Amino acid sequence: MPVDTWSVKKLYVENSIPAFSRKEPFLNLLMDLKTKGWSVQDDFFSTDFTQALMDEAENIENTQMQLAGVGRKQDHQIVLDARRDYIQWIDPDKPIRTDFLKVMESLRVALNRYLFIGLFDYEAHFARYEKGAFYEKHVDAFKGESNRVLSTVLYLNENWQEGDGGELVIYDEHNPDIEVGRFFPKKGRLAIFLSECFYHEVVVAHRTRHSIAGWFRVNNTTGKNLDPDQ
Ligand code: OGA
Ligand code: MN
Repeated sequence: MPVDTWSVKKLYVENSIPAFSRKEPFLNLLMDLKTKGWSVQDDFFSTDFTQALMDEAENIENTQMQLAGVGRKQDHQIVLDARRDYIQWIDPDKPIRTDFLKVMESLRVALNRYLFIGLFDYEAHFARYEKGAFYEKHVDAFKGESNRVLSTVLYLNENWQEGDGGELVIYDEHNPDIEVGRFFPKKGRLAIFLSECFYHEVVVAHRTRHSIAGWFRVNNTTGKNLDPDQ
């Protein structure tokens, strides 16, 4: 797979804060997605960009968040059991939010270019797990029933330590009883996986846990039936 520098340069989108400082995490991510369908990359974005997202996440008042699974946008997730996180959907209504969506848009274009997966758009929300919160084992989409193709989670927590809990656990594509990866939600880490293929969970967090979860979607619109509906 020749990854020419031109398209990697395309990832250096015009933002108030430069989002990408290195190309390796992007190239590693492409290779992982091709070979195993999921990837976890550290320092995916520049330190300043990640910090700005973290400042934004921390400054959202709890009262401005909603219990996940209810809200103004349709929630497509299939939850086997329970989740206890609070979310706030991201609209381009502040510079840092606009920048984040722009960056993910350039990532969408790059992924389409190299993986030919026809991603159509991206939706994302801030998520906050307070002490004691978790999200039981689930998939983000059931085969043929959702427009969600690729899930992303960007973690925003300073100094996450052993004992703080809140790890993301990813299970084997063919045998969801087998754990294939367990990751701290540490600042700057990006997890990405095929939404229909991988069961995953968030184990109980013992301190407040901030992240941005998002989904690249395909366009399933047929006739008058709009999907995505917005
Ligand atoms: C989700 C999810 C994982 C995480 O929001 O659907 O699985 O590590 N999040 O936050
Ligand atoms: Mn999920």
